[in-house]
Amino acid sequence: MTENEKFLDEVISGLSQEQKTLPCKYLYDARGSLLFEEICELDEYYPTRVEIAIMHRYAEEMSSRVGEEALLIEYGSGSSRKTRLLLDSLRAPSCYVPIDISPEILAESAAAIAKIYPDLEVHPLCADYLSPVEIPTPEKDFRRRVVYFPGSTIGNFEPLEALEFLAQMARQAGSGGGVLIGVDLRKDSQVLERAYDDAQGVTAQFDLNLLVRINRELGADFPLEDFRHAAFWDRDLGRVEMRLVCKTACRVDIAGQAFDFRAGEYIHTESAYKYDVAEFASLATKAGLSPQTVWTDVSGKFSIHYLTVPDGPFLQSGSDR
Ligand code: TRP
Repeated sequence: MTENEKFLDEVISGLSQEQKTLPCKYLYDARGSLLFEEICELDEYYPTRVEIAIMHRYAEEMSSRVGEEALLIEYGSGSSRKTRLLLDSLRAPSCYVPIDISPEILAESAAAIAKIYPDLEVHPLCADYLSPVEIPTPEKDFRRRVVYFPGSTIGNFEPLEALEFLAQMARQAGSGGGVLIGVDLRKDSQVLERAYDDAQGVTAQFDLNLLVRINRELGADFPLEDFRHAAFWDRDLGRVEMRLVCKTACRVDIAGQAFDFRAGEYIHTESAYKYDVAEFASLATKAGLSPQTVWTDVSGKFSIHYLTVPDGPFLQSGSDR
């Protein structure tokens, strides 16, 4: 199946469900990746700012946890901006493997990193990190693999998927390895909803870009002006839902298949789950990781967890993929 056929397949199956959904990884094409960088600069979007502040403040502590000569793997590296804060204080890191789905941004930031850190081996991988990718063996020796997964992207998984994905990270880091992961904390609904629906409408453009992309790449005819973006905090489920709401009833054609939308009906494009520190630690423990340290900002908005993969038969049975 070509990439395009796979995209079509996933779109058709998402829109055929009772509650229509679209796979969120397709938000990140070249334009989507740029819009997301713009979101990270917004006043309302606190996670990036706060996570960076935590990295600044505790990079030394994180680095001593990670130890010398680490092989650092990053999922969804994007601009690698936060990674630099880590690399700046890591002791003689051996190798950096940034993985991103968007080839343009990956090539650009991998080249920039290689230039800033001439002693570091950089092996960019253009891939969907959801499917286990083979991590290249570096030329240099390394002491442990550490998976870095910032941005609270783990919150974009359903809890059961998050559990499986954490287990995949543990297998990839291998015995004695580590996982450094950013997790956004539960908080006031207004703050959360504004973070995902800003006044300037950048997040709306980002979300709507999914329909733009489906129109362009799959020859669909979504009337863009009839859809608007909305964010909704569901406290019981502990998640913000990103929605594309249909303003007036319409019929959309995608590769010869018709989809009807009622006025007010919405497509669920993405969820952003929020976890308390204890809640996340227990999820990670179920995935076979052992919580070591958690760093948060003073106002308790965001957390960064360091977890290790214990030695032992449970994880040694997995390969490094
Ligand atoms: N990982 C980001 C988050 O959950 C992704 C994100 C930010 C996002 N804003 C968005 C996804 C708006 C969809 C729509 O915070």
